[in-house]
Amino acid sequence: MTELESEAMEAEFDTVAGWTEEAVRALGPEYAIPAGCRGTGSEAALRWLAERLDLAAGTRLLDSGAGVGGPAGWLAAERGVRTVCAEPMAAAVRASRRLFGLASVVALGQQLPFADDSFEVAWCLGVLCTTSDKAGALAELRRVLRPGGRLGLLVFVADGPLTPPLPEGNEFPSEEELLGLLEDAGLVLQDTSEAGLGDSPPEWTERADAVDAEVERRHGSDPAFRQAQENAQRVGRLLSAGELRPWMGVLQVAWNTGVPARSASRRSR
Ligand SMILES: C[S@@+](CC[C@H](N)C(=O)[O-])C[C@H]1O[C@@H](n2cnc3c(N)ncnc32)[C@H](O)[C@@H]1O
Repeated sequence: MTELESEAMEAEFDTVAGWTEEAVRALGPEYAIPAGCRGTGSEAALRWLAERLDLAAGTRLLDSGAGVGGPAGWLAAERGVRTVCAEPMAAAVRASRRLFGLASVVALGQQLPFADDSFEVAWCLGVLCTTSDKAGALAELRRVLRPGGRLGLLVFVADGPLTPPLPEGNEFPSEEELLGLLEDAGLVLQDTSEAGLGDSPPEWTERADAVDAEVERRHGSDPAFRQAQENAQRVGRLLSAGELRPWMGVLQVAWNTGVPARSASRRSR
């Protein structure tokens, strides 16, 4: 397993990912996509991104920080998109392969095991706030995308100081910081919106809730469950209070061949 920046995040994104796979198997395959979308949790957000990224059947897309593969599974089912997933947590990678038959590799977003210019399109949903090395993750996305390639992002941004208790291991950028990082990485903003996180069909929400309940029934007394649940609830409270916002953006890799300063060391590998 590749380490994350906090034990609570590993509980949430590794241990609970494995339990989510187990619960989906118990309940049925129609539960896999709603339960597997952990960054967006919203079909409307996925649709907005897929439309703006101009995704068509047969398009090959990289999903960096893919989790258990819900968004990539949705893309395959809805658009016929062929997704390659990269995700640091081994249990999540196994779940994405078994639940959706996805091509998935264990990798941090700052160390993607792909050649320069290998993808036309990528997306990265709910991931940048889980790493302190946002510039490294963006530089890698830019490196593996072709000039003119497209990138979809969902990032939880903070508009001001956050009220404790804060979720462990997360670092939320302000929108201004995020826009600066994107510019430094040579990524040009084309369109932006706020994700309506509850904006899904009723059966989507019901199925996601049913899987959460099944995981709790089976593992609710496990300390890793409590730790993961507490971390997720802290994020939920900050979103409900309006202290965090789900920012979505569609970006294009700059056409010029100049290498942005922050990504120069990675491109020379
Ligand atoms: C909120 S989940 C989102 C998962 C998925 N993108 C989705 O929308 O369902 C955040 C994911 O980012 C992964 N992650 C954490 N740190 C990462 C890093 N440095 N590089 C890539 N992924 C990372 C976690 O393991 C987790 O699967």
